[in-house]
Amino acid sequence: MTKLILILAAQILLFAAIASTGDFARTMNQEHLGLPKKEKLTHIRVYWQDSLKGRNPSAVMIQQPVSNSSTFGSVTMMDDPLTLDVSRNSTVVGQAQGIYAGAAQREIGYLMVMNFAFKTGKYNGSTITILGRNPVFSKVREMPVVGGSGMFRFARGYVEAQTMPSDFDAGEATVEYNCYVLHY
Ligand SMILES: *[C@@H]1O[C@H](CO)[C@@H](O)[C@H](O)[C@H]1NC(C)=O
Ligand SMILES: *[C@@H]1O[C@H](CO)[C@@H](O)[C@H](O)[C@H]1NC(C)=O
Ligand SMILES: *[C@@H]1O[C@H](CO)[C@@H](O)[C@H](O)[C@H]1NC(C)=O
Repeated sequence: MTKLILILAAQILLFAAIASTGDFARTMNQEHLGLPKKEKLTHIRVYWQDSLKGRNPSAVMIQQPVSNSSTFGSVTMMDDPLTLDVSRNSTVVGQAQGIYAGAAQREIGYLMVMNFAFKTGKYNGSTITILGRNPVFSKVREMPVVGGSGMFRFARGYVEAQTMPSDFDAGEATVEYNCYVLHY
């Protein structure tokens, strides 16, 4: 009799343990979020317009590099326009908001952490998040798209960044971003 009570007590404790660890997460049907079965691939081409000088700079260095021989240790905060065409005066379709930080000691290479926040058409209010390594003197730099919001929920993919002819002496850089994004 005592043995039976002990076994029952042990079982009750076991069930209590399972219930207390299991009830914050559950499997659900993706259709309940209105998601179709299959993802689609979207290609976005925009021009990233960085400007460190002039009357209205869109980027500001908030931490100087640790030496004058590289950009290692520098941190720059940006709110750069994303335009439809290579001209800085072309239509703005969104903003690239985030940070680029000198992350390489023996070359000019940045860690890019930024959101592309779109503000036109059906993508208005949607974002993609890019996080990657950017050795800016390479012709084409590939960086991962690690997520998104709005139209780009569940996004993943990559971008190819290519610097366009720019007035670097004026603190300006224009970079073409071809983004390949899988999302629902
Ligand atoms: C970089 O150069 C400037 C002047 O050219 C100098 O004032 C500064 O101390 C140098 N910085 C470092 C980290 O060497
Ligand atoms: C852009 O517009 C500014 C002022 O409106 C003008 O000075 C500049 O030349 C234009 N740049 C280009 C590339 O068209
Ligand atoms: C984008 O959305 C914002 C906020 O909802 C709105 O104020 C703005 O007018 C929209 N822009 C366009 C071009 O539709």
